[in-house]
Amino acid sequence: MTRVLSGVQPSGDVHLGNYLGALRIWVSDQKEADAFYCIVDLHALTKENDPAELSRRTLDMAAVLLAVGLDPDVCTIFVQSHVAEHTGLAWLLECTATMGELNRMTQFKDKGRDDESVRVGLFAYPVLMAADILLYDTDRVPVGDDQRQHLELARDLAIRFNGRYGETFTVPEAAIPKVGARVMDLQNPTSKMSKSVLSPQGTVLLLDDPATIDRKIRRAVTDTETEVRYDPGTKPGVSNLLEILGAATGRSPEDCAAGYSAYGPLKSDTAQAVIEMVAPIQERYRELIADRNTLGQVLIEGAAKARAVATTTFERASQAIGLLPPPWEGRLREGREKFR
Ligand code: TYM
Repeated sequence: MTRVLSGVQPSGDVHLGNYLGALRIWVSDQKEADAFYCIVDLHALTKENDPAELSRRTLDMAAVLLAVGLDPDVCTIFVQSHVAEHTGLAWLLECTATMGELNRMTQFKDKGRDDESVRVGLFAYPVLMAADILLYDTDRVPVGDDQRQHLELARDLAIRFNGRYGETFTVPEAAIPKVGARVMDLQNPTSKMSKSVLSPQGTVLLLDDPATIDRKIRRAVTDTETEVRYDPGTKPGVSNLLEILGAATGRSPEDCAAGYSAYGPLKSDTAQAVIEMVAPIQERYRELIADRNTLGQVLIEGAAKARAVATTTFERASQAIGLLPPPWEGRLREGREKFR
């Protein structure tokens, strides 16, 4: 069976870009593949962090993942820091990656390559992400378009490691959706919608109430023409709305465009489609967030299932690179058998 793995940061609120670019694909993938979904709390440490907020957001993200439709009986949902092999393998891969290739990562360049106070963790971020992926013998990684370069690095590191130390890792493929892979900021449609953006009006949160969603979409920046056409190069604002409407209703943006001759109706239909799409998610979220025991249980079971796979790959990689197998290795293996 195809193995799928993907991750989401627990930093801030989940927005429409996260949902349309990644989470909704995770939901459909869980039925077709052996899927592992990871809340990447260690990645959240690469920027300023409030400890109480981080643990709250991590649990909150578990509730969001269940609310969007992930079923813990079908897929594995776990927290990155609960599986120590992620940081262990990240080190082996840091000793495989070069400064040059990490310096070329556009997300690092954007977030402060020239800032002396930038953290080492932010620089090494894509290597930890490669470890997340390679630990699970992952075939396919469903992500939004902004993760494309990180996926290329994960592939390069896997190929290099395999070439130097023998066949160890599966080389993963990125799976980027045709529609919704790059949802743009509603106020600044040439930048992607993001959690860290300065204009909250440009970001639709999955848990925004209907009136807020309606207001944000109706106030979306468009252009001075009136023609509704899908043309991201010259009409980024309108094309973004068409992309959102298409992703929310299962159509192509071009098909959506054919139904409109003015921006007003496009905006109100897009708002309505988004409100309808998120309503059941919000309802489930409210029930789940009140039930911390169930969330905790899901994460305990998820960590056990994830560890069973991760320890095997980590052991294989450690031995391939020449580390002495631990003398208690047999005991570790016995423990793992319990979760099979
Ligand atoms: P994160 O938490 O920023 O985003 C989670 C997912 O949402 C997608 N996404 C978008 N898709 C479309 N339009 C947007 N505006 C938009 N913004 C975000 C992202 O592409 C992502 O798929 N580095 C990753 C987390 C990560 C990971 C991994 C992913 C860590 N380890 C291993 C896959 C595999 C990140 O920060 O995602």
